[in-house]
Amino acid sequence: MQNKDLISILELSVADIEEIFTTAKELKNKQKKGESYTPLTGKTLAMIFAKSSTRTRVSFEVGMLQLGGHALFLSTQDMQLKRGETIHDTAKTLSRYCDGIMMRTYSHKDVLEMAQHAAIPVINGLTDLSHPCQALTDIFTIIEKKGQAKGLKIVYIGDGDNVANSLAVIAGKLGLQMVLCTPRGYEPDKTVMKDARELAASSGARIEVTDDPTAAAAGADIMYTDVWTSMGKEQEREERLKIFRPFQLNQKLLNLAKKDCLVMHCLPAHRGEEITEEVMDSPQNISFDQAENRLHVQKAVLTLLLGK
Ligand code: CP
Ligand code: NVA
Repeated sequence: MQNKDLISILELSVADIEEIFTTAKELKNKQKKGESYTPLTGKTLAMIFAKSSTRTRVSFEVGMLQLGGHALFLSTQDMQLKRGETIHDTAKTLSRYCDGIMMRTYSHKDVLEMAQHAAIPVINGLTDLSHPCQALTDIFTIIEKKGQAKGLKIVYIGDGDNVANSLAVIAGKLGLQMVLCTPRGYEPDKTVMKDARELAASSGARIEVTDDPTAAAAGADIMYTDVWTSMGKEQEREERLKIFRPFQLNQKLLNLAKKDCLVMHCLPAHRGEEITEEVMDSPQNISFDQAENRLHVQKAVLTLLLGK
């Protein structure tokens, strides 16, 4: 994977994903044992943010530090991008100073454009369309907790957003069973679903889209949710609060799932909206383990892309 980009799950092979998971496990073990491992000594990651972040920013910065490197936080508000410098020229400039770029932005096309013109690896840290680092971490976390992801009923409930899109694609790649339960009109992206279904045809994945929360939750091994109003959609918030109400992950819905069902959330959570306080604070909720695993999985990605 050296010198490649990570723009979406689609361009990763199953072997790439397995390599990321194996490396993440090794790096997590090393860190837990207090072993220092610094393959990125002297390397710098530019982190461009056009949207807010807690986990992505901190986990990438801490990850670079732990690997011996350095990370630069660059808000688009303070960059010349804001004053009209092109992504093309920004990519070329950063390539002269840094060893990698991580970018969080609105339009997915912006990350593609950055990758096209950068001479260094570009990592998608979330766009309106996808969140590949999150999806990799989510499946890594499921495997860690349940021993394997294959054969489990993984249910995503809520908005068919960037997180849902990337989960659908990784399910298609890895042959998983996934139910995406969203209100009508809020299904995952059509093109992404087409890709996910094509992948499923060869991997044996079962990807289902429904608007029935009760049927979706029945017998679930994993119940996953995300915010109802993603960054950039704030003007739709009031309308969404009404439309998404029946899709709340609450105890009543969770009771329909398997007894040992785990609750996942990419975070940030809006307690009382997509997930209740009760479910958020229940021992079944593993979202903070998920958040921690962002660090280990992204360290693996950084080592594989920027290493050597
Ligand atoms: N899950 C996630 O990407 O969190 P942040 O928005 O805090 O980075
Ligand atoms: N779907 C959410 C994910 C945040 C990590 C958003 O885009 O705001």
